[in-house]
Amino acid sequence: MNWQEEYKRRLCSAEEAVQHIHSGDTVFLGHAVAESSLLVDAMVQNATAYQDVRIIHMTNLGSGAYTQPGMESHFHVSPFFLGATVRAAVAEGRGDFIPCFFHEIPQLIRERRVPCDVLMTQVSPSDEKGYCSLGVSADYTYQALKSARTVIAHVNDQYPYTFGTKVHVTELDYIVEQSAPLYESKPPKIGEVEEKIGRCCASLIRDGATLQLGIGAIPDAVMMFLGDKHDLGIHSEMISDGTMELYQKGVITNQRKNLDRGKMTITFAMGTKKLYQFLDKNPDVLVKPVDYVNHPVTIMKEHDMISINSAIQVDLQGQVDAEAIGLRQFSGVGGQVDFIRGAAMGGGTSIIAMPSTTQKKDGTLISKIVPFLDQGAPVTTSRNDVDYIITEYGIAHLKGETLRDRAWALISISHPSVRDSLAEEFERRFHQNYRA
Ligand code: COA
Repeated sequence: MNWQEEYKRRLCSAEEAVQHIHSGDTVFLGHAVAESSLLVDAMVQNATAYQDVRIIHMTNLGSGAYTQPGMESHFHVSPFFLGATVRAAVAEGRGDFIPCFFHEIPQLIRERRVPCDVLMTQVSPSDEKGYCSLGVSADYTYQALKSARTVIAHVNDQYPYTFGTKVHVTELDYIVEQSAPLYESKPPKIGEVEEKIGRCCASLIRDGATLQLGIGAIPDAVMMFLGDKHDLGIHSEMISDGTMELYQKGVITNQRKNLDRGKMTITFAMGTKKLYQFLDKNPDVLVKPVDYVNHPVTIMKEHDMISINSAIQVDLQGQVDAEAIGLRQFSGVGGQVDFIRGAAMGGGTSIIAMPSTTQKKDGTLISKIVPFLDQGAPVTTSRNDVDYIITEYGIAHLKGETLRDRAWALISISHPSVRDSLAEEFERRFHQNYRA
C-alpha cells in the first residue's frame, strides 16, 4: 500500500477518533498552538464514555472544558504549566500540577514515568513523500507521538509546515481533516515601565549574541531596543512576532551561532497569523524537540547566549519565584532554568527582567522585590543560578556577589516606596544580627 492509501485508510471524523480513548488512559494534548480544539471538544462531548482519563499538557490555549465542575469522574488534568483556563481547576482541586524542567518532559514520556497512551495534536498537511510537520510545536509533542499507543492527528491546512521535525502519515493512527484558524496571541501592551526595562536589557546584549526570549510585554520591549545591533542569533524555547520582525529587519542573521548556523532554532512558536505564515516552509527556522533545544548541554554550546525571562517575586538573596503566588500555582518553570543553566555553563548571561511592582485588584502596589518569598512560594531559579535582575529602576548584577552586596543591589532597583522598609530589613539581617 502506498502512503496515500495508508492516509485514506486512517481518515475518520473527530467523533470516531475519540472513541479510541479508553477509561484510565493518559491523553497528552499537543502543546500550545498545536492543541486541537476540534479533538478536545469531541473528547469532552464523549465524556460519559470515560472514567478517570488523565489529561496532560504544558501551556494550554483551548477552553479547558475537561476541567469544568462535573467532569471530575471522567477527566483529571495534570499540567506541566498552567494556562489561564486550567489555573482555577488546579486551585480548586480538579487537577494537580507536575513540577518539571521543560527539557526533561520527553525523557519522562520515553521512560513512561509519565506514560502517554494517546496523543491528540494538530499537524500540517503532508508533503509529497507523506511526511507531516509538527509545525509550531515539536517540544514534547514529538516524543509523545513516538511513545503513544494511539496518535490522533488533526490535519489542518492552516497549520504551518516547518522544518526540523517531521512524522510520516503511517505514524498517525487516526486522521481527522479540518481547516481551522489557529490560536493567535494579542500583541502585549508596552508601557513606560516595560520600555525602561527593555532598554536596560538591550544594554547587556552584544552584537553577535544568541538570544532566548519568552513571550509578553518585556521580551517585546527588549526587541524595540535591538534595532541597532548586528548579527544576533536565536536559540530560544519559543518565538513570537517580535522576533520575526527583527529578523525581517536584518538584525537577526544567525550567522554567528555555533549550532544550526544561519537558522533560528526553537521548540515552539506562538503569535499572530503573520508569524504562522512566516514560519510556513521557511528553511531559516528549525523547530526541534525540547530535549534538544532546551537541554543545558545544547544551550551551553551556543555563541554568547543571553537568556531573558521574568518573575513573580525575587527575595533579597536573589531567589527567584517565577511560577506561583505563595502556594497558588500560576504557571510553571517552563524553560527558565534550562536556559539560565545552559547560558551559565557556556559563559553566557542570564537576565530576570520584571517590573518592580504589580498591582492588586484594588490598585494597591505590591513590590516584587521582597525580604522573603511568600510563604509556600517555590524557588524557581536558585540564588546559585541567578545572574542579573532588571527592573525599570536599573540593573542588579548578583552572580559572584555576596549576600550583602546582592541585597543592596536589589534594594537599589526596587520601587522607591519600599526602599526604606527593605533597608530596615537589610539593617536587621546584616548589622543587628551580626552585633548580637
Ligand atoms: N504578588 C502577587 N501577584 C503577583 C506578583 C506578586 N509578586 N507578581 C505578579 N503577580 C500577578 C499579577 O498581578 C498578574 O495577575 P493577573 O493575572 O490577575 O493580572 C499575574 O500575577 C501575572 O503577572 P504578570 O506580571 O502579568 O506576568 P507575566 O505575564 O509577565 O508572566 C511569569 C510572568 C513569571 C508568570 C512568567 O514569565 C512565567 O510563567 N515564567 C516562568 C516560565 C518561563 O520563564 N519560561 C521561559 C520562557 S518561555
